[in-house]
Amino acid sequence: MQILHTIPAVRAARQEARGSLGLVPTMGYLHAGHMALVRAARDANDHCWATVFVNSLQFGQNEDFNTYPRDLPRDLALFEEAGVDAVFVPEAETMYTAEFSTYVDVEKLTDRLEGAARPGHFRGVTTVVCKLLNIVQPHRVYLGRKDAQQLRVIRRMVRDLNIPTTIVPVETVREPDGLAHSSRNVHLKPAERQAANALYQALQAAQQGFVAGERNADVLRAAMRAVLAREPLLDVEYVSVADDESLEALTTIERPALASLAARIGTTRLIDAIELGSDSSPSS
Ligand code: PAJ
Repeated sequence: MQILHTIPAVRAARQEARGSLGLVPTMGYLHAGHMALVRAARDANDHCWATVFVNSLQFGQNEDFNTYPRDLPRDLALFEEAGVDAVFVPEAETMYTAEFSTYVDVEKLTDRLEGAARPGHFRGVTTVVCKLLNIVQPHRVYLGRKDAQQLRVIRRMVRDLNIPTTIVPVETVREPDGLAHSSRNVHLKPAERQAANALYQALQAAQQGFVAGERNADVLRAAMRAVLAREPLLDVEYVSVADDESLEALTTIERPALASLAARIGTTRLIDAIELGSDSSPSS
């Protein structure tokens, strides 16, 4: 496995890689969710590349950039074991030179949910992902459905800017109790870890209501809130049932919808999402 630190090194290795290339962008501290993206990329392409970069630009002033978990040696061992061909691990200065002054901003789609809760977050995400796509030039890029708004925002950017890559969404990988794998889960104390389980239970409540025929979004949001309210350790930031594409809040579900939520547990902020009424929704 090649470990590439500079853009010229990536360009040189890229020239050598004939056939299709699938890219898995990450911020490292790998878990089973990341590895599912790697498997999908490896199985469908001649080459599977990954990136590890904790992108300061997508963290707000009072967010967890400094405490974001990092373990590069472990990440590289996991990538190697999984059959990744090359990993790009840039320094901050490589991505953002002192003169850096160009940003990618997707409008509208970023006004709500994570965008409202974390001003500037998506500008950081789209800017870095645009750069990574320009540097690596993959045929396909693999993104997780857990970060549902991120997936939609990056998809919008790729379409709007005619970036020649195909986005491949990958299903959320969960712990046995349903909690979505997340690098941030490592910060949860045992009681918090227990409480975090309510996030998926709340999404399931929405899913079950939907499958039972409920189409009133307020009723589904109330069902989610009722589950979350049972957990005193949870501080709910938002609960949403929105149009699956525009992410605008719905009153009645007539098209595919996205149920999503964000909550703080102690100092850890977690998000999760589930699609309602699309082909990838679980049928239970
Ligand atoms: P990170 O949080 O490391 O996630 C990297 C990729 O893994 C994202 O596409 C994310 O949606 C996916 N992922 C995370 N948890 C998952 C799970 N439980 N199941 C399936 N996929 C999961 O998301 C980022 O990094 C950054 O914003 C990035 C896109 C790399 C830009 O900096």
